[in-house]
Amino acid sequence: MNVYGLIGNPVGHSLSPPMHEAGYEALGIDAKYVTFEPPADEGAAAVEAAEKLGVAGLNVTIPFKQDVLAAVDPDPLAQRIGAVNTVDFSGETPRGYNTDAVGAVRALDHHGVELSGTAVVVGAGGAGRAVAFGLADEGMAVRIANRTESKAVDLAADVPEASGHGLDELAELLADADVLVNCTSVGMDEDATPVPAEALHGDLAVLDAVYSPIETRLLRDAAAAGATTVDGAWMLLYQGVEAFERWTGEDAPVDSMNAALRAGL
Ligand code: ATR
Repeated sequence: MNVYGLIGNPVGHSLSPPMHEAGYEALGIDAKYVTFEPPADEGAAAVEAAEKLGVAGLNVTIPFKQDVLAAVDPDPLAQRIGAVNTVDFSGETPRGYNTDAVGAVRALDHHGVELSGTAVVVGAGGAGRAVAFGLADEGMAVRIANRTESKAVDLAADVPEASGHGLDELAELLADADVLVNCTSVGMDEDATPVPAEALHGDLAVLDAVYSPIETRLLRDAAAAGATTVDGAWMLLYQGVEAFERWTGEDAPVDSMNAALRAGL
């Protein structure tokens, strides 16, 4: 039996175990997915320990995504992002990936969104950084807007074809944009939005990384403006799907994993 898992602190009531285990069950894979909560400064040590214990793969969440870089051989995208959320132990050395970037891309792709033209990414934290790299690698011109403008400008300097802005420029940035992704925590457990409703329009596809609530005010406003909407559970699903496929080498049973995830939300 293979053991997969998640390290985080706090690891909380993660939806990853039911989501991944639904995938194992659908494909008849003999595996378990468990959560671990190592001390906050022991991320790299936890990865080394997991390798020694024969763990097959680990997901990594806050606060360990940067620290575990020291314990893995990161793939080029994870190296550029500077954060790892998936470790595969099947090779000689632990390999690190960032499936958050691909998760956003695949969530949009699932909804038929064409990833060309211009994307506006709101937020310049860990999620914003991963999504900005993911969309830029698809060939999109990325405009990053953040409350703290200097963080957007710094991030844009690392991402190809990107520019950094303050939130006051959002209406202008969105006017001719094709895709909008909210990577801030605004809207989480509150009826707030990081983007004024007047700035949204029908030619946009809007992905909100917030998944609690599943229908955020941003997504309601986007639907009212005639935009295509993609909720945050799709991004959560596809970062897991991508990890599942890296670990097992099989196409993930997306419908089964999606059903298990949504049942837990
Ligand atoms: P994550 O790893 O989930 O991206 P993070 O690194 O803490 O989390 O980043 C949080 C993001 O949400 C940041 O872009 C933050 O903006 P600042 O860089 O200015 O702090 C943004 N954010 C959080 N609360 C916000 C608020 N009330 N209004 C606007 N942006 C907010």
